[in-house]
Amino acid sequence: MQDRLILGIESSCDETAVAVVMNGRRVLSNVIASQIDLHTLYGGVVPEIASRKHIEKINQVIEEALKQAGVTLEDLDGIGVTYGPGIVGALLVGVSVAKAIAYARKLPLIGIHHIEGHVSANYIEHSDLEPPFMCEIISGGHTDLVIVKDYGSFKILGRTRDDAAGEAFDKVARAIGLGYPGGPKIEVLSREGNPAAIVFPRAHVKDAPYDFSFSGLKSAVLNYLNQCRMAQKTICKADVAASFQQAVVDVLVDTALIGVNDYHMMKLAIGGGVASNQKLRKAMAEACEREKIKFYYPSSVFCTDNAAMIGTAAYYKFLKGTKHGLDLNAVPNLKLEE
Ligand code: KG4
Ligand code: ZN
Repeated sequence: MQDRLILGIESSCDETAVAVVMNGRRVLSNVIASQIDLHTLYGGVVPEIASRKHIEKINQVIEEALKQAGVTLEDLDGIGVTYGPGIVGALLVGVSVAKAIAYARKLPLIGIHHIEGHVSANYIEHSDLEPPFMCEIISGGHTDLVIVKDYGSFKILGRTRDDAAGEAFDKVARAIGLGYPGGPKIEVLSREGNPAAIVFPRAHVKDAPYDFSFSGLKSAVLNYLNQCRMAQKTICKADVAASFQQAVVDVLVDTALIGVNDYHMMKLAIGGGVASNQKLRKAMAEACEREKIKFYYPSSVFCTDNAAMIGTAAYYKFLKGTKHGLDLNAVPNLKLEE
C-alpha cells in the first residue's frame, strides 16, 4: 500500500501541537509548544490568553514539525485537525490554519474529535492494537468509558457526571498550594505520603455503573483541609495527596474493570493526561493481569495533548474517505459520534 502522510493539528486547550504521521502509526515529528508557564500565573487555563498564544505560535510549530519530519507541504496526503470539544477561540486557530492548508494544497480536510485523538494515541506504539477494545479516557476535561467498536466508531458506556478526573487533580492541587497543572505535582508529592492515611470516598453513581463522579471526592478533601485548619491540626500534604490519588485510582480501575467484564472485552486501553500517572498505570496493569486481559497505555508524551494522536485518528478516517468541507467550524461542545 502507498505510504500516506497526514499532518495533525491540535489547539483545543493550552498546547499548540503539530505532528507528521506516516500510515497512522509512525510518528515522523511531534512538536508541542506548551503554554503551561503562562497559565500557571493564573492557576488555570485562561481561554483568551490561550487563543492569542495559539495564533502567535501555530505557523512556527507547523514549520518545525515539517522540518523535523523532513517533508514539505507538497508531500502530505491529508490534514487532520481537532475541531472540538475545547476552547472555541483556541480550536478556531487550528481549524482555520488546517482549512487554509487544505485549500491551498487541495488536500482532504479531516476534522477530529479530541477524545478520538486520545483513544488513537494508543495505536502509535502498539502495532498489535486493533478494535474492538475498551478505552477509558481520563483527561482534564473528560472521564469517559467507551467501547472502541472500530476505528472512529464508539459506544459510550459512561462519563463523568460532574468534574473530570484531571480537573479533580487540578482543584485538589490548588487547595494544597501545589499550583497548575495539579496532576503531575500531586503524583510527585504522593510518593512521600501514605495512601491509606486518610479515607476519602470512592464514589460510584447509583444505577449507572460506568459513570464517574469526582466532585464529592474533591469536596471531601476540601472539608478535611478545613476541619484540620479549624482544629489547628498540622496538615500532612503528602498524605492528603497520596490518599486522594489512591481514591481516584481505585475508582478508575474498578469502573474500567466492571465495563471490561460486563462486555467480555479482552483488551483495555487508557488515554488522556491522567493516563500518564504511574500509580494508575501500575494498578490498572495489575488488575488486567488478574483478569487476564491485555492492557495498553501510551507513553506520557502521547497521553497529554499532542497532535500525533490527531494525525493517527485522521489517517483511519482518511482510509474510510471521510472529508470535511471548508465550512468546517470549531464546535466547543462537540459530541463523540457513536
Ligand atoms: O489530556 P490533557 O493534556 O488535556 C485535556 O484534554 O484535558 O489532560 C490534562 C490533565 C490535567 O488535568 C492534568 O492535571 C492531568 O491531565 N495530568 C495528570 C498527570 N499528568 C497530567 N493527572 C495525574 N497524574 C499525572 N501524572
Ligand atoms: Zn486532551
